[in-house]
Amino acid sequence: QKRIGILTSGGDSSGMNASVRAITRVALQRGCIPFAIYEGYQGLVDGGDKIKQFGWENVRGYLAVGGTTIGTARCVPFRTREGRLKATYNLIKNGIDALVIVGGDGSLTGADILRAEWTGLVDELVATGRVTKAECAHLREDLAIVGLVGSIDNDMSATDITIGAVTSLHRICESVDSLTSTAQSHQRAFVVEVMGRHCGWLGLMAGIAVGADWVCLPERPPPLNQEKYGDDWGQEMADIVGQYRTMGSRKSIIIVCEGAIDRNLKPIKPDEVKKVLEDKLGLDTRVTTLGHVQRGGSPCAFDRYLATVQGVEAVEAVLRSTRDTPAPMIGMSQNMVISVPLMDAVKLTHSVAEAISRRDFKLAMDLRDPDFTS
Ligand code: F6P
Repeated sequence: QKRIGILTSGGDSSGMNASVRAITRVALQRGCIPFAIYEGYQGLVDGGDKIKQFGWENVRGYLAVGGTTIGTARCVPFRTREGRLKATYNLIKNGIDALVIVGGDGSLTGADILRAEWTGLVDELVATGRVTKAECAHLREDLAIVGLVGSIDNDMSATDITIGAVTSLHRICESVDSLTSTAQSHQRAFVVEVMGRHCGWLGLMAGIAVGADWVCLPERPPPLNQEKYGDDWGQEMADIVGQYRTMGSRKSIIIVCEGAIDRNLKPIKPDEVKKVLEDKLGLDTRVTTLGHVQRGGSPCAFDRYLATVQGVEAVEAVLRSTRDTPAPMIGMSQNMVISVPLMDAVKLTHSVAEAISRRDFKLAMDLRDPDFTS
């Protein structure tokens, strides 16, 4: 009977619970024993009651609950070999040699490092007498690792969508709709900062969904019409926002991604945008930072679905995995569940940041997601 550890790691996202539920229940159906590892990698490092065998009823009611009930953490000790040695000890003591991790690219990379070091870590624990050979006898030769991407940012390149991103998008849209009514009443402008770290997906999608006047993205820094505006994104924005006002609009909505930059890679901050709107257009402007409200609340139907179908596939991937196959990441492409080599996905994601740092914005868009380019 395969013993599968399940953990959620990094920033929480709505739908993580649905994936824990699906992995647990499919594992049971497939004759495996699931274990919840509480507080992400911290639980793996700490062991004890942070690693708990799960049954069918442990995940009852999980589908509709936001965040992650088993907890998450951005765990610093796990980034060290010493931390990973402790994690290996706790895995061996619980007889676990398969892990499904729901998290962002950093969390999935951490898992891959643990897998690469696994044999050496096990040998070291045996050699130092911390575990016995008998305790390791039933373990596979390697650690099976499968990643699911839980992140509101939708910043993983090799998948169309990540668990929690659509719920977050709904939250942003609801919030901006609320701002829109007060903006219209006072004929104000609102500069709304949205999350996404270095990825503009939330900002772009929200901009389309709420009909924003202007969106500042990391992957396509303004001004878009360089021939006319050179580096002066403020003037380009003011011209466009002003034009909508001339056409009769009583409000202006500008969405600024938290990772927004100009063409010289200088961050664009909401207060700067506010100042431009006040100075160039005389608009009464307010800044709203949506913050963690974007990450909270019950997952939308799509994220429950996404987490569930990917959770099913994660267990199948564990059962398929061999020592010689690279650790897989479960993703989505054209509405199909896919399995791609985890580290290829991570490398592709990092290459977006590299392209942006070289100011190759066209390549950044291509690498982020082919759909962005059309
Ligand atoms: O990665 C998810 C995310 O919400 C980002 O959008 C944001 O930049 C970051 O996490 C916030 O991190 P924290 O919750 O640690 O403040």
